[in-house]
Amino acid sequence: MSDPEALKRDAAAKALSFVEDGMRLGLGTGSTAKHFVDLLAERVAGGLKVVGVPTSEVTRAQAERLKVPLTTLDETPELDLTIDGADEIDPALNLIKGGGGALLREKIVAAASARMIVIADASKQVPALGRFPLPIEVNMFGLEATRRAIAGVLAAAGCPAALTVRNKPDGHVFVTDGGHIILDAACGRIADPAALAARLHAVPGVVEHGLFIGLASFAIIASPGGAEVVGRV
Ligand code: A5P
Repeated sequence: MSDPEALKRDAAAKALSFVEDGMRLGLGTGSTAKHFVDLLAERVAGGLKVVGVPTSEVTRAQAERLKVPLTTLDETPELDLTIDGADEIDPALNLIKGGGGALLREKIVAAASARMIVIADASKQVPALGRFPLPIEVNMFGLEATRRAIAGVLAAAGCPAALTVRNKPDGHVFVTDGGHIILDAACGRIADPAALAARLHAVPGVVEHGLFIGLASFAIIASPGGAEVVGRV
C-alpha cells in the first residue's frame, strides 16, 4: 500500500518543476496543495524569486509562516501559473473542487492565471464527475429559497440531488472565507457539467459552485508507479 501523503507530495514535487524564477503563482488549498507550498518554500529559501496569491486563509497562513512572498489579485491581477488540488478530475480535465470550502477564491485565482496545473493522486480520476458531492457556495440571505431553486436546477439537469448544509466537525455551520454557506449536492453522475455549471450560475443567491470547466491546463497524477502528466503541457 502506498502512503497517500507520499503520492500527493510526488505530484506536488513534479509540479514544482514547472515553476520558473519570477513567476506570479496561484497557491491552492487542501492537503495536496499544502505539500506544494511546503516544497515551494524550500526553493524560495534557496533563492527562487516568486510571488503567490493564496486561495484561502489557511494557505495564506501557511505561506506567511514559511516566508513565501505573497501578493493579491488587486496588486497582481494576472498570474502565470496556479497549482491546486481537486476532488474529482474527468477525462476532459473538468474538475469538482471545494471539498475544503475554498472554491470561490480557487476559481477566481485559477481564472486569473495563464495556466492551472491540477495535482492529485490517482484516486481523484473519474470517468464522469459527480461521485463526490458538488459544493455550491450560497449567500446566507434567503437560504431556503436558494436551496429550492438549486434543487429545481439539479432536477432539470437530470441529477436530482439531496442538498446538505455543510457543517464543521464540531457540528456548527461551516462558513467560507467569503462569509457564505456551502450546500453539498449528492448529484451522482453529471451528464453535462458545462450545462449544469451555467444553470447553477443563473440562480440568484448562488455565489459559486465547484464545477471547474476548462480551467485546468493539465494534471499531474501520482500513483505508486510515479507522477505523470495528463493532458498537454
Ligand atoms: C479546497 O476547497 C478544494 O478544492 C481542494 O483543492 C480539494 O478538495 C482537494 O483537496 P485535497 O488535496 O486535500 O484532496
